[in-house]
Amino acid sequence: MKQKVLVTRDVFDEVIAYLLNHFDVIANPEDDVWDQETIAGKLADCDGVMTSLTDRVDAELLAHAPRLKAVSNIAVGYNNIDIAACTVRRIMVTNTPGVLTESTADFAWALLLAAARRVTEAEAYLRRGEWTRWQLKQFLGVDVHGANLGILGMGRIGQAIARRARGFNMTIRYHNRGRLPPDTEQAIGAAYDERDALLEWADYLNLSVPYSRETHHLIGREELWKMKSSAILVNIARGGVVDEKALLDALNAGKVRAAALDVYDKEPPEDFGLIDHPNVIPIPHLGAAAVEGQQRAGLEAVRILKEKLS
Ligand code: GLV
Repeated sequence: MKQKVLVTRDVFDEVIAYLLNHFDVIANPEDDVWDQETIAGKLADCDGVMTSLTDRVDAELLAHAPRLKAVSNIAVGYNNIDIAACTVRRIMVTNTPGVLTESTADFAWALLLAAARRVTEAEAYLRRGEWTRWQLKQFLGVDVHGANLGILGMGRIGQAIARRARGFNMTIRYHNRGRLPPDTEQAIGAAYDERDALLEWADYLNLSVPYSRETHHLIGREELWKMKSSAILVNIARGGVVDEKALLDALNAGKVRAAALDVYDKEPPEDFGLIDHPNVIPIPHLGAAAVEGQQRAGLEAVRILKEKLS
């Protein structure tokens, strides 16, 4: 008898086809988010589950999944999964970091450039029919080329962002839990710095750390107040890495120029002024949303699941 796998979200057809070669599959036929109760009911006789970052896998859910042996998260991040609870039940947890690196780095650059040159703001202005004449000083942004790029979190994605920055002739510094080997630093052209020095130095600060208890509110009031008032913050990590209320205060006080945000503490975000702030580019969590990236991630999640369940 084939093992049974639950797929909680709408994935590409080829991912389902690949799964069906090896497993019995229960797949969410709609593009909606199942609540915990629905997932719990369906997990009762499943050996594996393919989850997305919208699913919360915790002890309570696992209590309804007596046969579960593997959770394959179709995402880079896995903060939606309680690893300790899975470990207690000897359930393997996997994610798909390698195949989404480049797509996510591309998007970090889309955000950085959009914020620097006020692309979304100018587009909205034109669409509103407000553009009456060309002006020399209209929507003036700031240069990206030659500027200082600070990267907080120099894992795969941080490094891919740094590699792209060389094409813009930027000076690149980074801070990370562990320092990279000298030959890697040299290959990507990035120098290590202490966190506070990085905050003070960066014209652009990119956040690409994994979200955990240690990185919760890594960027808070104290950190924002250390940054240049001309600096632009780009968050493609997780919303909880930034203290959003402190960020709003910093923007209102002119302590940082702008923020391009792909992720929020709560998704969709609660609006307390941050989303509507004129110097914020708010994006609905699209960092990895490239066709190729998501196809690769889905297929990779199946490949890993197959390996873990064999
Ligand atoms: C997206 O945020 C991901 O973790 O894949």
